[in-house]
Amino acid sequence: MGKIIGLLSALFLATLSAAPYAHADAKKGEALFNDKGATKCLVCHAVGKKLVGPDIAGVSKRHSKAWLAKWIAKPQDTWSSNDPETVQLKKSVHKETAPKTGHMPPPLTDEQASDIADFLMTK
Ligand code: HEC
Repeated sequence: MGKIIGLLSALFLATLSAAPYAHADAKKGEALFNDKGATKCLVCHAVGKKLVGPDIAGVSKRHSKAWLAKWIAKPQDTWSSNDPETVQLKKSVHKETAPKTGHMPPPLTDEQASDIADFLMTK
């Protein structure tokens, strides 16, 4: 049983990391994260404090880079997917049965999302 779960998670991670997030860059991601007008991240998040959304501090310990990039590019699809990281997030914000996420950045390209995810992996 443990082996099967291990195999399934390995397959799951392999699928995520096969996504085309090649040109990522933490510095570009930091600038995007801090650009309140363009990405709105700072409207709902801070590093070191909870606002509308969870505290960003320690986020790299809770999530993989691949999940973060997906979460930023396609919030509602990720929310509905109920992958293990999303289930964990739902539990931590006590929204296990909520159909919609309150995480609503404006539409971003996969490359922008990947850059922001690279930046978040430093937090
Ligand atoms: C309108 C408010 C809002 C905006 C804008 C927003 N978020 Fe969120 N975010 C949330 C909420 C609320 C959650 C928690 C999930 C939920 O309740 O749906 C969340 C969850 C997250 C998480 C998971 C945190 C954890 O501890 O697991 C990350 C990472 C994140 N957001 C990053 C971002 C980034 C990066 C941006 C900008 C591109 C952004 N968010 C824009 C509200 C927002």
